[in-house]
Amino acid sequence: MNEKENKKLYKQLDELIQKNKDLPGPLIQILHGAQGIFGYLPIDVLNYVAEKLEKPSSEVYGVATFYHLFHLKPKGKYQFKVCLGTACYIRGGQMLVDVIKEDLGIDMGEVTEDMMFSLEAVRCIGACGLAPVMMVNDKVYDKLISPAKVRAAINEYKNIVAEDSKQSA
Ligand code: FES
Repeated sequence: MNEKENKKLYKQLDELIQKNKDLPGPLIQILHGAQGIFGYLPIDVLNYVAEKLEKPSSEVYGVATFYHLFHLKPKGKYQFKVCLGTACYIRGGQMLVDVIKEDLGIDMGEVTEDMMFSLEAVRCIGACGLAPVMMVNDKVYDKLISPAKVRAAINEYKNIVAEDSKQSA
């Protein structure tokens, strides 16, 4: 991100803080908005929020790490979330993880350099009868019983990315 874009994001953050700081319990609201602006909560943003709210950084960091809805690491545009709940794990959840890791060249909790894909594990998403399952953003892929099926799902998104970059070239 260049300096100009960064300034623009911090300007939005300032407006957000200004709008919320005098409301009761503003921290969660501000962190939620900040994540919307930056895509995740970098440590510099947490420190900035702490300074502006005149709170200790440890308090802001504590809240950001306590709630699952906050991400302290960047996520990809397409987020691969593999279910490693019991039913999925027994029926091959780890195979999904291995195929995605190998195909995208990232580890669990990481994002690809181009920021397009990230990989994480999730707990049961309530589709145990269709195990093993994964989600890509909000779309569920079920019965991923073979590496070929997993690769087909990955390729769907690789094709979208390739198409998008062709159009913006
Ligand atoms: S264990 Fe994966 S959906 Fe329930």
